[in-house]
Amino acid sequence: MATPLTIQNPVLLTVCVVLFSVTTIATTRDPNIPIGPVFIFGDSTVDVGTNNYIKNCTAKVNHPYYGIDYPQSKATGRFSNGLNSADTIVALLGGYEQSPPPFLALLRDSSNFTGKLLDGVNFASGGAALVKGVGKDFLGDVISLEEQIQQFATVRGNITALLGESKGQLLLQGSMYIFSIGSNDIMNYIFSHPTTPEIFIANITAIYGIHLKNLYNLGARKFGLISVPSLGCCPIARLFSPGGTCAKEPNDLASAFFTPFESLLKNLSSTLEGFKYSLGNSYNMTMNIINNPSGFKDVAKACCGNNTIQGISDCKEGGFLCPHRDDHLFWDAFHPSEAASKLAAHALVFSEDPDFVTPINFGTLRST
Ligand SMILES: *[C@@H]1O[C@H](CO)[C@@H](O)[C@H](O)[C@H]1NC(C)=O
Ligand SMILES: *[C@@H]1O[C@H](CO)[C@@H](O)[C@H](O)[C@H]1NC(C)=O
Ligand SMILES: *[C@@H]1O[C@H](CO)[C@@H](O)[C@H](O)[C@H]1NC(C)=O
Ligand SMILES: *[C@@H]1O[C@H](CO)[C@@H](O)[C@H](O)[C@H]1NC(C)=O
Ligand SMILES: *[C@@H]1O[C@H](CO)[C@@H](O)[C@H](O)[C@H]1NC(C)=O
Ligand SMILES: *[C@@H]1O[C@H](CO)[C@@H](O)[C@H](O)[C@H]1NC(C)=O
Ligand SMILES: *[C@@H]1O[C@H](CO)[C@@H](O)[C@H](O)[C@H]1NC(C)=O
Repeated sequence: MATPLTIQNPVLLTVCVVLFSVTTIATTRDPNIPIGPVFIFGDSTVDVGTNNYIKNCTAKVNHPYYGIDYPQSKATGRFSNGLNSADTIVALLGGYEQSPPPFLALLRDSSNFTGKLLDGVNFASGGAALVKGVGKDFLGDVISLEEQIQQFATVRGNITALLGESKGQLLLQGSMYIFSIGSNDIMNYIFSHPTTPEIFIANITAIYGIHLKNLYNLGARKFGLISVPSLGCCPIARLFSPGGTCAKEPNDLASAFFTPFESLLKNLSSTLEGFKYSLGNSYNMTMNIINNPSGFKDVAKACCGNNTIQGISDCKEGGFLCPHRDDHLFWDAFHPSEAASKLAAHALVFSEDPDFVTPINFGTLRST
């Protein structure tokens, strides 16, 4: 059987034993449902190379200095100096060293395609949004969330063809589905203001609900969701803000999205049998670091790139690169450094603070 199905991270178990009684876990966990693999959906915050496989796409970072701290300094297509949140989260959940590979990479290298699906798949695509078509004008083709879920439907078919319908379904019920998306919808709104902020937030919340229901209908039960971070504090947003402070509008929208999103998830879990979730408040997590930087020396500027409106395109070989990547919150104009992703993953997987993750953390969701 595939590694992630059987191996439990000893660190995770230790933490669970300390924080909860062992019997709680033993009574809530159905022994007939295996701990399945992890499937990841979303945008550049969790893309591990999907966009490398898309022809007409400009949101590609398969060049240095991206990946400078990845093994062999390989530019894998992660929007990071090293690992990103997809990697750091699954590593802490256990059974993984890094994110499962992109769906499009598995499709390309078809040897043992179905076997590899049993180890999990990452569908995330930089530039993707909840609303299909957002960003198309300046990024070209990306895999929208709708298409990511269609790709999962294919994967589900391949898995049930291999294991049989009932075993396949149990595996998918025990799997974890991680989402990190919504930032591009908000940025797109800011460029065009097609409606009021209230209608916009209600609209993307409803659309998120449709996606989650579609995935539930394909057999998903355990949802680990990461809300939108404080976008206004990204280096690119600060450029447009007097004195380089966090920009108000993107922050207000990101913050305003959290409560309806949480309400949506409460509704889904009370109406859909077996729907379980853990919601990470990445707005609070980012603001907490910015207000109490502790290990970080710079929480405002990009480590890579010239902090100009060129954004990610000016993070490239020969351009500016900060000497100590780990002391920067931001790697490029939009994205966190590996160090910041590690810190965020730690909070998501282990924190007991409802300001950061609610109503349970990712680690507890994984093991129940
Ligand atoms: C195919 O993948 C599965 C799951 O990872 C693995 O157990 C199996 O050994 C692989 N088969 C071959 C022929 O590589
Ligand atoms: C590639 O993307 C650009 C920008 O969206 C678009 O104008 C162009 O038509 C696309 N080309 C193809 C071949 O799809
Ligand atoms: C996976 O499923 C798709 C859609 O049903 C099918 O076209 C493809 O051949 C399957 N792949 C394998 C390796 O079974
Ligand atoms: C969201 O807004 C778009 C147009 O702005 C509309 O076509 C769509 O029906 C709305 N969807 C929901 C679920 O409210
Ligand atoms: C959740 O359900 C309540 C009660 O039915 C409803 O008032 C609220 O609008 C729903 N929230 C979302 C985000 O769907
Ligand atoms: C970016 O910074 C590098 C190194 O500091 C410099 O050589 C380059 O000219 C700068 N590029 C732009 C567009 O300012
Ligand atoms: C965390 O987020 C919630 C919901 O948006 C908010 O009510 C709370 O004040 C935030 N806590 C901190 C410490 O920022």
